[in-house]
Amino acid sequence: MKKTSKRFLSLILSLTLILFTLSAGSAAFSTADTTPRRISVSAKHDGLTKGFCWYTDASTPSQVKIYLDDQDVTKDVVLSEIQSEEWEGSYMHKVTVSGLEGGKTYTYQVGDGNNWSKPGKFVTDDGDDSFGFITISDVHYRAPKEDETPFRGGDFTLRAAVKTIPEAEFFVNCGDFTDDSTNDEWNDYHKAFDELHRALTLVPVTGNHDGFGSYHWFNNMFNLDTSESVQTLNGVNYSFDYGNAHIAVLNTNDLMAMSDAQLKWFRNDMNSTDKDWKIAFMHKSPYSLGKDAKWPDALYLQESFATVCSEVNVDLVMSGHDHQYLRTKPLKNNALAKEGQHGTVYVLAGTAGTKRYQVRPFLSPSFLPAFVPSEFIDALVIQREADYGSWQHEKLQTEVGGCFSTVNIDGGKLELKAYILADEKDADGQDIITQVDCMTIEKKTGQNKISYTGDNTTGLFQYILDLIPSIGNLAKYAFLDWLPKFLLIVPYIIYSSVELGIF
Ligand SMILES: [Fe+2]
Repeated sequence: MKKTSKRFLSLILSLTLILFTLSAGSAAFSTADTTPRRISVSAKHDGLTKGFCWYTDASTPSQVKIYLDDQDVTKDVVLSEIQSEEWEGSYMHKVTVSGLEGGKTYTYQVGDGNNWSKPGKFVTDDGDDSFGFITISDVHYRAPKEDETPFRGGDFTLRAAVKTIPEAEFFVNCGDFTDDSTNDEWNDYHKAFDELHRALTLVPVTGNHDGFGSYHWFNNMFNLDTSESVQTLNGVNYSFDYGNAHIAVLNTNDLMAMSDAQLKWFRNDMNSTDKDWKIAFMHKSPYSLGKDAKWPDALYLQESFATVCSEVNVDLVMSGHDHQYLRTKPLKNNALAKEGQHGTVYVLAGTAGTKRYQVRPFLSPSFLPAFVPSEFIDALVIQREADYGSWQHEKLQTEVGGCFSTVNIDGGKLELKAYILADEKDADGQDIITQVDCMTIEKKTGQNKISYTGDNTTGLFQYILDLIPSIGNLAKYAFLDWLPKFLLIVPYIIYSSVELGIF
C-alpha cells in the first residue's frame, strides 16, 4: 500500500513537471518579438495628417506617442482608423494621426504601450506655399549578391538626396520597392530604409513588382487613403494636398496600365482642386526610351492618361519603371505645347538602385519613327555604360550611378533638379553627386478653379461596369495603334539585339 502511494505521488509529480514544462514552452512562444518593425509614415489627406504603419511578430495593441519639443502631446492630437490584423505570418498595425499643428517637427514612437520603437520624426506643412521633396524610383530592394561590388542600394541614393536637400518635407518612391514582393525582400527593404523612413514622410507609389502573386501587399505595407481607390487588389490610387499643390498618386497595375474608372477618378480629382500646382506620380511611364516603352501599356498611357493631363492642366508627372532618366518638354495632347499654351512635363525619374537600362534607339524617330518623338526629349540620362552604335541624340548623356530628383516649389515657381550618385566614392571617401538636369516652370498663381464637387468614389459594381469600355479601348489601342508601330520596328529590334545586344 505504501509502495502504491509512492508510485501515485511520483506519477503526480511527473505530470506536474510535464505540464510546467509545456506551459513554460507556450509562454516562451507567446512572448514572440513585439518590437515594431517595417515602420513608415505616409502622407495622407493633407500636410497635417499622417498615416503610420508598422509590423510586429506577435499580436499587440497599436499605439502611437507624439512629441513636440520633447513634450508628450499625444492627448492633443487625434488618433483614428486604428487597425491591426495578421498578414503573412506577422501583425500589421495602422494608426492615422491628425489634428497636428502646421510647420512643426514632431517626434514619435509606435508600439504596444510597453514596448516602443526607436523615435522617428516628421514635419507638417507650414502653409506658406513653399516646400521641397525628393523623388526616387525602382530601388528593387533585395539582399546584395556576391558578384556585386560595390553594392549600392537605393537607400544610399536617398541618403545622398537628403544631404543635397535637407529641407525636403517628404520623399516619393515611384514604385518597385522590391523585386518579388516576398516577406524576406520587404524585410530587407525596411532594414535598409528604416532610418530614412523614421526621418521623412513617405509618398509610396505601387510598382508592378510590388505585390507579385499577392496583390494586397502594397496596401498592407503602408497606411494610405484608400477611400477613393478604384480597387485595391493590385495597388492603390490616392491624392492629398500639400502647400499650394494637389498631388495624385496613380496605380498603373490597373488592367494593362490604367482602367477607365481610374482615369475618371483622376480627371475628377484634378478638377476638384484649386491648388496652383497639379502633380501626379505613377509607376509606368508614358514617355520613355527604355526596355518597356515598346510594349502596349506605354503607348496606351500616352493616348489615355496624357490626354487627361492636358485636359485638367497637370503641371508635372513623375514616374519610373524604365530605369533611365528622361524629361520631356511641356506637352499638350501628345505634341509640344505651343507658346502660351499650358503644357505637362513628364519625368521618368531614373532608378535609385543598381538595375539600369540602356536606351532603345529604335524607339526614337531620329532612328525610326515610332513611339517617342525625338523633339519631345529635353533631358536623357543613361545610368550605365553602353554602346549605341551610330545612334546619337543631342540630349543623351551617360552618368553611372543611382538617380534622385529634387523638387522645390515656391509660390508660382517650381524647380526640378536631377542628380546621379556615383557608385564609386572619391579619393577622400566622399560621395560623388553630379547634377544632370535642371528645369524651372513659372506660372501665375490663383488661376485654377474647382469644376468638380461630386462624389469621386467608384463602387465595385461601377468598376466592373467600366471594365467593358476599358477592355474595348485597350483592344483598339493594342491592335490598331500599337501593333502596326511595333511590327514596323521589329526588324530594328532584331538588328539592335544582334549588333548592340539591346533588346
Ligand atoms: Fe522597375
